[in-house]
Amino acid sequence: MSLDENAKSNLIAAARAAASHAYAPYSDYRVGSALLFDDGAVITGTNVENASYGLALCAETLATARALGEGRRGGLVAVAVTGPQDKGDGSPITPCGRCRQVLNELAQLGGTDPLILCVGTNDVREVSLSTLLPHAFGPAHLA
Ligand code: THU
Repeated sequence: MSLDENAKSNLIAAARAAASHAYAPYSDYRVGSALLFDDGAVITGTNVENASYGLALCAETLATARALGEGRRGGLVAVAVTGPQDKGDGSPITPCGRCRQVLNELAQLGGTDPLILCVGTNDVREVSLSTLLPHAFGPAHLA
């Protein structure tokens, strides 16, 4: 499935919309994530924090867990990640290390290398998951 500019903007819009539901009372750093699948489905997630700070879940992790929990086992084409526009230096937000590994699980299950759209204030960095997480450990190692 090729990803045209319209599909990219729609995915970014879905991630932004998801971020409005972020539960981030401790960091006040609201993140949205949207996963696009090869059948056109989009599954979103937000960060979900906890009074026990270290238990926070990232937006990409929640979206991936939702997808797996709905029975998806691959077909991951692209992922958009958005952060707050009024914080930081405006550079594109990239998935944290744990999220890269979590995303890799779903990607490897279906043999795809999803395009990650990392959204910044003035630009979007497009990078493949395999570039963000080279030589990844995944389900194939355990088969
Ligand atoms: N966060 C995400 O949701 N995704 C990332 O890839 C980076 C960080 C969240 C975790 C925490 O709730 C807040 O951003 C600040 O770190």
